[in-house]
Amino acid sequence: MTEENIKLKIDQLRSDLNKHNRLYYMQDNPEISDFEFDTLLKELQDLENKHPEFQDPNSPTQRVGGGITKNFKTVVHKYPMLSLSNTYSKEELEEFLERVSKSLGEEHEFVCELKYDGAAIGITYVNGKLDRAVTRGDGKKGDDISSNVRTIQSVPLELSGNDFPEDFEIRGEVFMKLDGFNELNKSRLEEGLEPFANPRNSASGSLKLQDSKIVATRPLDTYLYYVMSKEKLADNHYDSIQKAKTWGFNTPSIKDKYISKAKNIDEIFDFINYWDTHRSELNFEIDGIVIKLNNYRQQEELGYTAKSPRWAISYKFKAESAETELLSLEFQVGRTGAITPVANLKPVELAGTTVKRASVHNADQIKKIDLRLGDIVRVEKGGEIIPKITSVVTDARKADSEEFIFPTRCPECSTALERQEGEAQHYCPNEMHCPPQRTAKIQHFISRKAMEIDGLGEETIKQLFNEGLISDYADLYELNEGDLLPLERMAQKSVQNMLKGLEASKNIPFERVLFALGIRYVGETVAKKLARYFKTMDIILNASLEELLAVGEIGERIAQSIINFREKPDNIAIVKRLQSYGLQFEIEEKEGGSDVLNGLAIVISGSFESLSRNELKDLIEMNGGRNASSVSSKTDFIVAGEGLGPAKRKKAEDLGVAIISESEFLKKIGK
Ligand code: IVH
Repeated sequence: MTEENIKLKIDQLRSDLNKHNRLYYMQDNPEISDFEFDTLLKELQDLENKHPEFQDPNSPTQRVGGGITKNFKTVVHKYPMLSLSNTYSKEELEEFLERVSKSLGEEHEFVCELKYDGAAIGITYVNGKLDRAVTRGDGKKGDDISSNVRTIQSVPLELSGNDFPEDFEIRGEVFMKLDGFNELNKSRLEEGLEPFANPRNSASGSLKLQDSKIVATRPLDTYLYYVMSKEKLADNHYDSIQKAKTWGFNTPSIKDKYISKAKNIDEIFDFINYWDTHRSELNFEIDGIVIKLNNYRQQEELGYTAKSPRWAISYKFKAESAETELLSLEFQVGRTGAITPVANLKPVELAGTTVKRASVHNADQIKKIDLRLGDIVRVEKGGEIIPKITSVVTDARKADSEEFIFPTRCPECSTALERQEGEAQHYCPNEMHCPPQRTAKIQHFISRKAMEIDGLGEETIKQLFNEGLISDYADLYELNEGDLLPLERMAQKSVQNMLKGLEASKNIPFERVLFALGIRYVGETVAKKLARYFKTMDIILNASLEELLAVGEIGERIAQSIINFREKPDNIAIVKRLQSYGLQFEIEEKEGGSDVLNGLAIVISGSFESLSRNELKDLIEMNGGRNASSVSSKTDFIVAGEGLGPAKRKKAEDLGVAIISESEFLKKIGK
């Protein structure tokens, strides 16, 4: 390829990846599989590595991070980043409306929006490319965190369309989705790290990490809520926000009711009341509603105080917390043996539900808040699935209350607990024989992201375990109708489903089997990396520490954990058994592959003599090509069969895209 062709190829890959990224993250409507996406990304990475002259900070390859920033550059905001004045009552909100009405003396309307609870950022775009992203800081100047913000999938690196201003800033909130936050905290606990207090802290903490590679693994998201530009996109805020959506920004959508126009206090309160009841259904936290005057000219007319705009106000929801009595503290054992204290509480109403249990993370946390039996405690519902105890109301403490002593032995199997240097968590090391660890491992094995076994659920696993029918996940494959039918609540139909599900799981690809084994620190992504790199389980089981460390992003901790796993003969025996039942322990490499079509976009059209369209598609992919759905200037060629439509032919001819026959195609790939 000539330099020019390489640049063209790189540009094409970048624009394709940007498009697929948008389809996946913004429109929830992917057109290609994760694997196809990864393949395109890999191709771009290779080209960029080979041709550093074409590196670009806005390339989709930068999403994975890489750069380490020791000290973030301080940047003075072009327009100060103000805050909003708050109200908590309808009366105060009415006063605000009256003030606005008096000052304007003409008709006006408001826009109601969610008040996202995260960290504010301002992102500048120049000629449609992300130029810089800056934290709020003290409002006058903030930190340049561009390399971290570039890893957030919902932040466009390049804008689509062409009607955006040459140079503008868009402001919004970076936050963490609740499911992502819960998973992050779960794995932090499993890894013995201190969990984040709430999604807001974890979002703002993540943005300030020095290593953008780690930021890339954090489930961060954005909502953008204000466009600042000399050249106005519209004469009002509402239209500008919708306009910005067409360029690829995640702005609040009308359809989801995240934004709405309102003319008076009643309409504003309809919005507030709706979200006060529905906010618990959102997958992110909001702490109120923002009410903004819609028209830009009117906004300017009202102007600003030193701290906040006079044309907007926030209505804050009351914090979701309550006080109740701590009845007892239990210690639960997780899949990896981590011990988590769980508090039993005197039932109390909190944000629409009755709370009876709360979590207390770990021993340090118990000490820190000085928790004692019988204490009156404050519980808060943050992003977590179960609420947590945030503090003790010490005034109400009984005089004879005693400090909690963290157990020294496992509450389930009495093994002495361990705590690694520098880790927050206590562990029960009796991985092989501690009952809850064993059932949790089997439950993990069958879970959706692992072996996804239809017809088997967590409760059934417990039942099978308690009945002595299984004691590890390999035992599942030895179950038969005769074992299962006599069990309580086990009908013929469900037994058949379960056995069918188990049979089907033998086709689950190796990377998921590897994840299902439940090796500590080997999560989904790590399992994928290991499977792709080593190709077979046998190689992984025999790899040296150095070889394991040679896999990108596998560090000492993960490598050591794999070694610990395979050093236990019981684990090896289980893997051998699973192999003998026919589970996948090798990555499936299709035969007859090559790279002759590397990076080419190929359209299939018409019907063919010797191959089905699916077979053709497989052949394209096996040889490094990509099956594109429609003809465009980016198409490399069309494989045409019987009945290639005249419109497609004309388009191909206009664009100078080659059309080849089935036999020519087969020749190309050496068949
Ligand atoms: S508008 C000049 N809209 O709330 C007004 N702010 O106390 C700019 N926030 O720092 C703010 N959701 O971080 C606006 N829909 C929304 C918001 C929002 C959350 C945050 C923002 C700001 C703080 C104001």
